[in-house]
Amino acid sequence: MPLSYPATAADYQILARRKLPRFLADYLDGGATEEQTLRANVSGWQDIALRQRVLIDVDNVDTRAQLAGQSCSMPVALAPLGLAGMMAQRGEAQAVRAANAAEVPFTLSTVGICPLDEVKAAANAPFWFQLYMIRDREYVDTLLKKAWNAGCQTLIFTIDLPLPGPRHRDTRNGLDSSGARSVALKAQQLLSRPGWLWQVAIKGKPLTFGNLSDAVPEASNLDSFKQWVDTQFDASVTWQAIEWLRERWPGKLILKGILEVDDAKAAVNVGADGIVVSNHGGRQLDGVAATASKLPDIVAAVGKDTEILVDGGIRNGVDVFRALALGANGVMVGRPWAWALAAEGQAGLTRLLNTWQQELKLAMTLTGVTRIADISAAHLDLPNTHKL
Ligand code: FNR
Repeated sequence: MPLSYPATAADYQILARRKLPRFLADYLDGGATEEQTLRANVSGWQDIALRQRVLIDVDNVDTRAQLAGQSCSMPVALAPLGLAGMMAQRGEAQAVRAANAAEVPFTLSTVGICPLDEVKAAANAPFWFQLYMIRDREYVDTLLKKAWNAGCQTLIFTIDLPLPGPRHRDTRNGLDSSGARSVALKAQQLLSRPGWLWQVAIKGKPLTFGNLSDAVPEASNLDSFKQWVDTQFDASVTWQAIEWLRERWPGKLILKGILEVDDAKAAVNVGADGIVVSNHGGRQLDGVAATASKLPDIVAAVGKDTEILVDGGIRNGVDVFRALALGANGVMVGRPWAWALAAEGQAGLTRLLNTWQQELKLAMTLTGVTRIADISAAHLDLPNTHKL
């Protein structure tokens, strides 16, 4: 596929903002507190220099890889994004089709809009399911069974959200409040995006939290949903929960939200099949380090024992290369996929993923490496590697 406009994640971000009501665009773009970690995530990758090499036979460069045992066109998976289904009409169904076309795994969030069955019907390959631990364990049990029956073979258990981080953009827009001012503000923002209102909110099926709708009768209402999250997300969860999950989940289990070596070791000890080095895209504890700077130590400690994915701030195929060169087995991409989906639906997302694959291939070609498994720190200018 030739390159064409819109090409970059930033192109799609601008287009998405033009289509979405402001509270949704801000919900998507925003981070916690001062958004320092959010910015550091992006610059953390950009600060890493690559080594250009020449006159090496790079006639056959192959970006294919395996993630959680699944064959992919490149080692990139779509990260779970709550409310992603609101970015375009039946958003997650469109996203899984785009992911299938690009041959990369899609992850459905616990707080997705499209229910598991709808995503299954749209998909032609297994997708991944992401779990937040909810206090009602019977309900979690049911959710896991539904995910397994929908053909999910990989569970991403997110462990960095005992409670939601302070996202001040959401507060400013009244996204998490049902007071009169907030309602008026949201209504005003909605009316300024009649295209979105018609296409996504009116023409599609009702916007409820598909996977949770039995548990959350009020789930069509964003405000009461936030209150439900505050009371139902289980902040008492410990490493023992992994054993409980293991008894109920026959597939692969990947722990998402690890940033410290000791936690990575603990994940290996409890038998996780993989980890995602992540600070939740800078949406939880502002002030924690960029994932690019935490990755090398974690790789050194557990890289031989488990599969390591990383996310946060990865914005193009060169960033994917950088993550692989620092020892990750693959990456997850968050905001960029939702920007592409919001801007141009399934076609936009397919195109963005295609561009990333071409960029990754080009980075491999110009650093003189032909297989994903051969990408290493030798392809980086190492003194710059740990810079924030
Ligand atoms: C998220 N993230 C997230 N993670 C998760 O495990 N479950 C979820 O429901 C969500 N929801 C969510 C919504 C939005 C709008 C964003 C931006 C992020 C975190 C996500 O999976 C991932 O870790 C980050 O998005 C990665 O950072 P980048 O690629 O967005 O910079």
